[in-house]
Amino acid sequence: MTWNEIDWPALDRLRAGFLQGAAADGPYWQSPADLASYDFTYGERIGWKWDAVLAELRLRGWHPPAGATILDWGCGSGIASRRVLAAYGAQNFSRLLLWDHSPLACAFAAATAARRFPALPVSVTTPQPECHLMSDTFLEQENISRAEPIGLLIVSHVLNELPPAALAELRALCARASAILWVEPGTHAVSRHLGVLREELRAHFHLVAPCTHQHACPILAPENARDWCHHFAPPPSEIFANPDWVKFGQRAGIDLRSLPYCFLALDRRIPAAPAENLSRIIGRPEHFKPYARFLNCDATGLAELTLPKRADPVLYKQLDRTKSPLIYRWRREGDEVLGGELLSPPPGETSESHPAD
Ligand SMILES: C[S@@+](CC[C@H](N)C(=O)[O-])C[C@H]1O[C@@H](n2cnc3c(N)ncnc32)[C@H](O)[C@@H]1O
Repeated sequence: MTWNEIDWPALDRLRAGFLQGAAADGPYWQSPADLASYDFTYGERIGWKWDAVLAELRLRGWHPPAGATILDWGCGSGIASRRVLAAYGAQNFSRLLLWDHSPLACAFAAATAARRFPALPVSVTTPQPECHLMSDTFLEQENISRAEPIGLLIVSHVLNELPPAALAELRALCARASAILWVEPGTHAVSRHLGVLREELRAHFHLVAPCTHQHACPILAPENARDWCHHFAPPPSEIFANPDWVKFGQRAGIDLRSLPYCFLALDRRIPAAPAENLSRIIGRPEHFKPYARFLNCDATGLAELTLPKRADPVLYKQLDRTKSPLIYRWRREGDEVLGGELLSPPPGETSESHPAD
């Protein structure tokens, strides 16, 4: 796919459908060209969010269970599972299973992943036995039996499209997963919905990220109803000088600089030495001349903290400029930050970004 091959009217139609909530009417992919155009644009932006999540997981020292099966549920063009496979190496997984209620999406995602990772077995799955895919998909179809464990469940940008029955199906899959990576748009409603699912799942999983603690999510406390857990991924800087990305941004009505997301990374394995005393900044810090102010989440809850510029001018600047996930160890007095260190990778991990898809 190149910019010259983009089906712009298809992207316009998809965009209108996303905005109007037309997804509730059933599968909306109309052709492989829809999926290819989406994958190159909207999907690529989602890929940048996954890159940020995967970079954070590297910082947290997290790796998927060895030899895991990956299930990408609601896969669309399959960008999410391809990002994960590229980050951790396809050789470290036993197979990729794909599911979407659109057979066109399943076929596109399977063909694209099989081309990209030729040694990896790729199948389209039918999570519900009664659910049958169209017969012209050339890849093997496979039922994952209701008892079979799932190594790594991947979910990306589906939550606001799911009717209750589909969400129940997804919950049942969570119950069978060893680990879950779930990335969604960083809107108030979707993030808080994901937060509710976090509360259900935390009895059974270790919260790897974005949380720096295992307690109830403080954002869901009634007094924090206006807040939501979200973060901003850094898009590649070269897109701002690329006329095709600029055209895409204008046509789609998207501010290319802003890439808000929320996510959950969960694992049934409990780390031997979980990192302690970490804080996470929610959203973006605001900078004023004498100080920076931000919402901070840690084991003691949610608090608005300030960093006076004079206390640590380098940190004040770093809070504005860093592209790293905003996870810190603070030195504080009450709600005033005196200094702090950005989380650095554990021994043996590098901080370099993951290979792009
Ligand atoms: C916005 S797209 C995201 C696709 C992909 N996960 C990504 O991150 O790019 C939402 C996807 O969810 C799928 N979907 C919506 N409702 C579904 C359901 N009930 N069961 C399975 N897939 C569903 C849609 O067909 C679509 O491919």
